[in-house]
Amino acid sequence: MLVRFKHLSTRLATVLGLGLLCASVTACDTSDGESPEPEAHQGAAEDGARTPFDRGEDAAFEAAVEAQAAGWQHAFGQFLFRHETFDGNGRTCQTCHTKSSGALSPAQVEAAWADDPDGPLFRALDSDDGTGSSYDRLREDATVLVNIALPDGWTLVDDPAATTVTFRRGIPTIVNTAALDPVLMYDGRNASLQEQAHGAINGHAEPGRQPTEAELDAIAAFQQINRFFSNKKLRKWAQGKAPAPELPPGGTDAEIRGREWIVPSVEGVCGHCHGGTMLNETTEFLLAPLPPGTRFFTAFVSEFNNAGNPVHTFEVDNGDGTTTIFDSPDPGRAMITGDLADLNAFKIPSLWGAHNTAPYFHDNSAANFDELNVHYSEYFQAIGLDPLSAQDIEDIGAYLELLE
Ligand code: HEC
Ligand code: HEC
Repeated sequence: MLVRFKHLSTRLATVLGLGLLCASVTACDTSDGESPEPEAHQGAAEDGARTPFDRGEDAAFEAAVEAQAAGWQHAFGQFLFRHETFDGNGRTCQTCHTKSSGALSPAQVEAAWADDPDGPLFRALDSDDGTGSSYDRLREDATVLVNIALPDGWTLVDDPAATTVTFRRGIPTIVNTAALDPVLMYDGRNASLQEQAHGAINGHAEPGRQPTEAELDAIAAFQQINRFFSNKKLRKWAQGKAPAPELPPGGTDAEIRGREWIVPSVEGVCGHCHGGTMLNETTEFLLAPLPPGTRFFTAFVSEFNNAGNPVHTFEVDNGDGTTTIFDSPDPGRAMITGDLADLNAFKIPSLWGAHNTAPYFHDNSAANFDELNVHYSEYFQAIGLDPLSAQDIEDIGAYLELLE
């Protein structure tokens, strides 16, 4: 480790914004968020020749490549995550997955708009009409557009020639994701972080060149450094250094009552789906014949469509001479599996750190925990359970705030 460490020049470490005081690569926490950014436009090639490093921030890019060669893969990944590298539309991962939460809220979109309405977030592909003339949806809901291919045998009734469907989706946090969640995306469509990053670069950044495998590996490595865990206990558990964290006991009466909803039991209804260490999988109490550990389910977010998103009519060829026709603003997991049993099912997200990542649900339809719990109260009634009282809503909200 020390030998490797010596390979890094002070200049290199400074350019990358990495402290030189850490004793080993793994002990290096590049989590500060205050690290000096590489100087832009240093040493640009003057002779007009395009080189791989001739990207405006070429000196820093070169240093980042050097870091990768020295074994500092996550440092290379940090550079790629934060800096426009693929000759695209200016967007980086960090344009949408912000330093403060790993996600993006309407307030953050508004701040970016106030700072620069021509900034990289505001690109025609995510505008209201596709031409870039207005960004009302993005500014109000903080949703971007995601294109998903129709499964075999599926057609859109109002657009029979369509092969893909565009959905409005919120930006989930990437905190705890890379190291602790093998299921990626709201609909679980990506099998690896590398495949995910490849899709993100092509789906959001309109790249002029494709990322290399080494670059995708580095982006995946960066997303597993210390700053991407919501708390130390989860990090130590992920690194095999400590037992899995348990639900905190709660201090106030409201918190102690709120906890009862989360601990899986017949009455602890939230715990029917938010079980396991990550609070993101079904338990044996689920009122549906699915095995414990199931990761996709419907919480009636598409069914209720409180976001008011455009509703599509789908026609599915059942393969036996019959067809099924249904409406949905976003069928979620079913678009990936083609299986109607997955209709409107989405990944059950973790509750750790959720207090930091409002708005909630795949369509950002719940602005805060109160709205989320009002949604659940309506969902409970729709499946024949009692609604939540105002006290329950307060209690559950108070307890969710404790889940660091
Ligand atoms: C324009 C905004 C935008 C940019 C830029 C962007 N993302 Fe995302 N990211 C999203 C959205 C939206 C989703 C959820 C999409 C879905 O599930 O359909 C997402 C999902 C993810 C997830 C999965 C989270 C989960 O809970 O499963 C990861 C990991 C991720 N992004 C990493 C990246 C990386 C790495 C980059 C840069 C290469 C990047 N993103 C660039 C908007 C963005
Ligand atoms: C039947 C399964 C189920 C039950 C019961 C359930 N959830 Fe969920 N939860 C989900 C699913 C699925 C999602 C994602 C839904 C979507 O985005 O469409 C979700 C999303 C959430 C989120 C959003 C997290 C984020 O990062 O966006 C929170 C918070 C949450 N649930 C809390 C609760 C609470 C509190 C309760 C009890 C009042 C509860 N859940 C009950 C399945 C469930």
